[in-house]
Amino acid sequence: MSNFRLAPSILAADFGRLNEEIQMVNSSKADWLHVDVMDGVFVPNISFGQMLVSTMNKSCTKPLDVHLMIVEPEKYVDSFIDCGAKSISFHIEATNHAHKLIHHLKEKGVIAGVAINPQTTAESLYDILEDLDMVCLMSVNPGFGGQKFIYRTLEKTRKLRAEANARNLDLLIEIDGGVGLHNAESLLKAGADVLVAGSSVFKSEDPIATIAKFKALEINNFDL
Ligand code: DX5
Ligand code: ZN
Repeated sequence: MSNFRLAPSILAADFGRLNEEIQMVNSSKADWLHVDVMDGVFVPNISFGQMLVSTMNKSCTKPLDVHLMIVEPEKYVDSFIDCGAKSISFHIEATNHAHKLIHHLKEKGVIAGVAINPQTTAESLYDILEDLDMVCLMSVNPGFGGQKFIYRTLEKTRKLRAEANARNLDLLIEIDGGVGLHNAESLLKAGADVLVAGSSVFKSEDPIATIAKFKALEINNFDL
């Protein structure tokens, strides 16, 4: 339960000050930088593509955790790996070939993740659980930052952690959407290993201090 990773989501940053925002993340206790790629087809919003991801990777000293909210992810994963992604999560709802794509990501040496929408059950991952490095549980409907956390995700996290433990798997569980200091501890207790935090970090008065507060939670978790 200790040693969880905090991944601020750059989607909530002020893009007019993108470099400063990345420098803030560099100088903070954040572990990864979460990068949301949206295509306007899989989700009703468009964010940014390879050019910006590659630019961000040049100034960011933390590993880029790329979340692909796009259709036909198999067409694009290699280009995002070339941009410097250290972990890639694609949506299980966006492909019929998740098993194949996971193994492709592993061969490429990145953390292989699958993201699932709130409507998708934990059980729908059971046949590929052994293959995965990470599961990203969406705790909001993907497409936008700043949404309200869907509390059902806590139960889903517990269920997935129990299943992974029962199979003795070293599976990372990432929670994405509506995560803040108010629910982080419950999520860690439920079995989360990676917390994505967009608005709660970038829209806070002192993002570096907010990140430090998140990371201080891991100390409490040693007692669990
Ligand atoms: C939602 C994105 C999330 C989002 C999180 O589609 O995948 O990563 O940036 O933002 P907050 O923390 O503001 O909900
Ligand atoms: Zn995301």
